[in-house]
Amino acid sequence: MQLAANMGEFGADLSPERRDVSQAPERTLGHVVACTGARATIAAMLPQNGRGPSEAWAIGRVISINLGRSRVVGTVYEVRTVKESWDERADNAVHVEVELAGEVTEGEDGRQRFQSGITNYPPIGAVAHRIRAGDLALMHDLGGRNGTAVGHLTQDASIPATVCIGDLLSRHFALVGTTGVGKSSAVALLLRKAVMARHRLRVLILDPHNEYAHAFPDRALTIDASTLDLPFWMFRLEEFADVVFRGRPDPDEVDILREVIASARARYRAPSARDMLRDVNTSLLKRPLDPNAARATPESAGAAADAPLPYRMLDAFAVIDELIGLHELRYPRAALRSLKVRLEALHGDPRYYFMFARANTMESMSPVIGQIFRIPEQGRPITVFQLAGLPSEVVNSVASVLARIAFDLAMWSQGSYEILLLCEEAHRYVPSDPALGFAPTRQAIARIAKEGRKYGAYLGVVTQRPGELDPTILSQCSTIFAMRLANDRDQQIIRSAIADASTSTISFLSAIGNREAIAFGEAVATPMRMRFAQVPPHELPAMAGLVHDGLPQREPGLEELVNRMRGSS
Ligand SMILES: Nc1ncnc2c1ncn2[C@@H]1O[C@H](COP(=O)(O)OP(=O)(O)OP(=O)(O)O)[C@@H](O)[C@H]1O
Ligand SMILES: [Mg+2]
Repeated sequence: MQLAANMGEFGADLSPERRDVSQAPERTLGHVVACTGARATIAAMLPQNGRGPSEAWAIGRVISINLGRSRVVGTVYEVRTVKESWDERADNAVHVEVELAGEVTEGEDGRQRFQSGITNYPPIGAVAHRIRAGDLALMHDLGGRNGTAVGHLTQDASIPATVCIGDLLSRHFALVGTTGVGKSSAVALLLRKAVMARHRLRVLILDPHNEYAHAFPDRALTIDASTLDLPFWMFRLEEFADVVFRGRPDPDEVDILREVIASARARYRAPSARDMLRDVNTSLLKRPLDPNAARATPESAGAAADAPLPYRMLDAFAVIDELIGLHELRYPRAALRSLKVRLEALHGDPRYYFMFARANTMESMSPVIGQIFRIPEQGRPITVFQLAGLPSEVVNSVASVLARIAFDLAMWSQGSYEILLLCEEAHRYVPSDPALGFAPTRQAIARIAKEGRKYGAYLGVVTQRPGELDPTILSQCSTIFAMRLANDRDQQIIRSAIADASTSTISFLSAIGNREAIAFGEAVATPMRMRFAQVPPHELPAMAGLVHDGLPQREPGLEELVNRMRGSS
């Protein structure tokens, strides 16, 4: 659709190359003097008076080589003067190195099309010139796919940069770039477009800097430490243990915890005799009471400790007390006591209210899942999950629970919902060093990356440090927006992650401007150097409480500041 407009605009350009004698000499910029496989060298003159087409030879520019009925297009990656000196008073000869990308040919139906790869190599002496706007638009045309404009091409601001949102989501995407280049702003832009294009899509943003609420005042529900309800019983044993032991689980105590949770769960499900008498008519009577309810076997405990069924902390404490009181001790008393102290401290800590305060007013996960995953969406298909106010020890576990549920929900909805999990600072959850990070979070995110596509669970990863992100996750991202990356190692990572990333394209990454990106992969037709659209200030992400001129909206009182620092608002 975009292209149709462009074809009108550049209609003349789309016709086969025709050169007439009256055309300005600047149009003929150079001639091919060497061609080796995917590269060509062009000899050109830069005129003495400084007028003329020198800007067409700038690094990163796409140029075109005329082969009569077709045109080979390529990207400039190196320019140097032939004499390695500069003469102010004469024209200067330059050699321009170009990496060939593909060709524009005329099909049998008379339409021009672009295809990657070269079938006819340019002969020596072929004329090279600035690419026509129509050819440039053709290069990035998505063909039959639905395109959504997210910016414009760097080389020609009149040509929209379009991406296929369907492929962007379903094959996962990554946005990488050094700090301040505009990743989060681009994410805000992409997500807005995505929810507009896909009505079944729900987006969950893991927002470590509490910045996205500002970007979606109308389209997102923001969940923070004070509004979150994530009952402790929804955590799996490993996740809960990570919270209880603050990332350093004590194996003996974890064994006890497993049994304690299983027993507490069994008690919750097994009604007391008094309840049963009162409820004689309920079907509960038909269910025989589990004689081992209070004493789960170790085998059953593993499964029961992971089942997302409610239990009460009071039952858990009672089970520990009973274990302490046993004549034949099954666990060291010190370990039992230590576990109880830990659980009591957690249970009473106001920073963990979101796990305990309302946990037992709920009988099932549905209200929690409905709120977080926007079912029904109530006009807000995006959830901004603010992690910054949560105790830092719990962030990994919460991310694990959410990523796990996102996958399961998409899977069990059998295509009714598509769920995009957007991970900012993704290297924190899925670091390249297997010894770092939290295994369950890594597994849950990797599961979405590897299998999510089949079920409608998608992943978007954003990082400043692609080198610190698990390469298997990056390689599952079929579309990558590479923004400025100063560091060589990070550039290397991108090069190895992307099949069609040419050396020359990657080498620009250290020099591109803010808001600029090179988009590679499934969602674009061919690697595309683009600039994201300007996002209006009221749709930009912002640090909580900051407006975009950097001034605080209001001064928080000391009490509020201290509360924020303690993570309890
Ligand atoms: N597309 C855009 N439209 C308008 N302003 C933008 C855009 N991209 C970036 N900016 C400006 O640049 C600033 C920094 O951008 P942004 O916060 O998106 O960078 P970032 O790459 O996410 O940085 P960090 O890595 O530190 O999170 C924004 O606050 C905004 O002012
Ligand atoms: Mg950011």
